Amino acid sequence: MKRDFLTLWDLSTKEIEYLIERALQLKSGKDVNKCPLLGKSIGLLFEKPSTRTRISFEVGIYQLGGQAIYLTSKDLQMGRGESIADTAKVLSRYLSAMIIRTYKHSTLEEFAIHFSHPVINGLSDSHHPCQALADLMTIYESKGRLKGVNLTYIGDGNNVANSLVEASAKTGINLSLACPEGFEPSHYILKRAKDFISERGEGKISLLRDPSEAATMADVLYTDVWVSMGQEENTEEKKSKLKGYQLNSDLLKYAKKDVIVLHCLPAHRGEEITDEVIDGENSLVLQQAENRLHTEKALLEFLLK
Ligand code: CP
Ligand code: NVA
Repeated sequence: MKRDFLTLWDLSTKEIEYLIERALQLKSGKDVNKCPLLGKSIGLLFEKPSTRTRISFEVGIYQLGGQAIYLTSKDLQMGRGESIADTAKVLSRYLSAMIIRTYKHSTLEEFAIHFSHPVINGLSDSHHPCQALADLMTIYESKGRLKGVNLTYIGDGNNVANSLVEASAKTGINLSLACPEGFEPSHYILKRAKDFISERGEGKISLLRDPSEAATMADVLYTDVWVSMGQEENTEEKKSKLKGYQLNSDLLKYAKKDVIVLHCLPAHRGEEITDEVIDGENSLVLQQAENRLHTEKALLEFLLK
């Protein structure tokens, strides 16, 4: 049966651990001449702009011997009203997988129902699971483990935060989130993650208001933009509520000395993070961006085997 990757719930803990190990092998140059995607074409259907997701997938597909075809809904007949179901059924006859970046998460789910091959979420309004895989790999590379690592997320409880909630629950990371009232991660996602944690007995998720309390003893500090793509209404009001949630050198003092700083990028420097911190010695944001390539190659190889 085909496997999709729409959220972290589509993978077991063991599979996530396997993908990180495999991504590390691929990063080290192992199997560089293997072409598991030889003769396969993979579509990238993007409703929103992208630098990292698009290019890392296109390069990764090329390195695995396959062909990447970049599509936007405007260029397809979908832009003129052809249904998602018909589009998915037709594209199933040409392509071996689809990577889709959408506004509504339900677009991905509907596409996946009608597409005969793996569908990968390249970001939706509610989730960014490919980003979370690269984040886990970066944390593992730096800390040598995931279980018991203290990860603190500061700022808007958006798609990136939602996927970090799920990734932490799956791997036993202790996640503290500091978000202003009204900007917490999805209630449903938090509940499902907490239920999973209490069944598994590893990890912890705490939702706090005070960034310094959340940052205390952090091994990893993470933030993302205050205004995500497609959510540009009432921007100034939202930014004023998030003002105290900046990842800056004052906040870094609460964390452990060897704390690493992560940001999925693109960053709005001077808003959610300062230049000093994102360019500072604790920052691993470029390693994190590079790891998109390695984790996505591991994921494609796994889903298309
Ligand atoms: N982090 C991330 O997904 O970046 P892009 O929007 O550039 O793909
Ligand atoms: N939360 C951001 C992430 C960008 C990679 C957005 O959705 O715009």
